[in-house]
Amino acid sequence: MNATDFAVELRSVRRTYRRGPEPVIGLADVTIGFPFGTFTAVMGPSGSGKSTLLRSAAGLEAIDGGEVRVDGTVLGGLRDKELTVLRRERIGFVFQSFNLLPALTAAQNVALPARLSGRRPGPAEVTAALAAVGLADRAGHRPAELSGGQQQRVAIARALITRPAVLLADEPTGALDSSSGREVLALLRGMADDPGRAVVMVTHDPVAAGYADRVLFLRDGRLAGSLERPTAEQVAARMTALEAQTSEAQPSEAQPSGVQPAGTQVSDAQAPEAVAC
Ligand SMILES: Nc1ncnc2c1ncn2[C@@H]1O[C@H](COP(=O)(O)OP(=O)(O)OP(=O)(O)O)[C@@H](O)[C@H]1O
Ligand SMILES: [Mg+2]
Repeated sequence: MNATDFAVELRSVRRTYRRGPEPVIGLADVTIGFPFGTFTAVMGPSGSGKSTLLRSAAGLEAIDGGEVRVDGTVLGGLRDKELTVLRRERIGFVFQSFNLLPALTAAQNVALPARLSGRRPGPAEVTAALAAVGLADRAGHRPAELSGGQQQRVAIARALITRPAVLLADEPTGALDSSSGREVLALLRGMADDPGRAVVMVTHDPVAAGYADRVLFLRDGRLAGSLERPTAEQVAARMTALEAQTSEAQPSEAQPSGVQPAGTQVSDAQAPEAVAC
């Protein structure tokens, strides 16, 4: 496969966190490509590097080694401003906690990334983006007036309005009930069938992973296998095996050290430009 067939490509990417007395491995040495027109799920035990991988792919992580390419562009070669523009225009990010701005309507939230890019999308464009997620009739509603599933669909519309090459979603169904979760998964599945886009989703749920074309497994910041056209049962069995290996390797630790509490990435995520990507 040519490099240009990948919406995102990581080559020998390493990320080590050096805040505490011991360095903590985020990603050890990951080489993987995400082809256009595909839906990949990323799974692995807590602390295995899934969010680090997604943030690295989005240019939100200062990697220590290796290279990330988005739609053929090497992120490390860009100035800050160029990286910001590329993130806004070519990368969509969806978070577990939606990260909509509460004071804005659904339509205003969806329009925000394009506006931050200096472009004012027309009402028809915003309505089309909301219609694509089944919410054309909710354009004037604020997040508090929408269900969790609807808020996540607005967040997906917001991520897609700039027509990104890649949509990165970190546990997008983690805060949803199973029926809203299925709606979001069906949407992501459909979005990945666009030949100009790849969708990459971190999930803990084998059923969610079953919507993907491929599941990648991470363990201790390294790739630990993959499954093509996975069933939920196959994924669950692989996860059970991985978690058993992980607890054998760390018998005294219920949680890997230094796991970020949920929401600590939000400072990054809530910066206007990160919201925009
Ligand atoms: N900002 C940070 N500072 C220090 N260590 C970090 C930071 N972010 C992540 N880590 C560490 O890097 C490792 C990988 O973290 P990451 O958040 O990628 O895991 P994850 O697979 O997404 O886990 P979870 O399923 O719990 O979300 C963990 O050991 C974590 O503690
Ligand atoms: Mg995570």
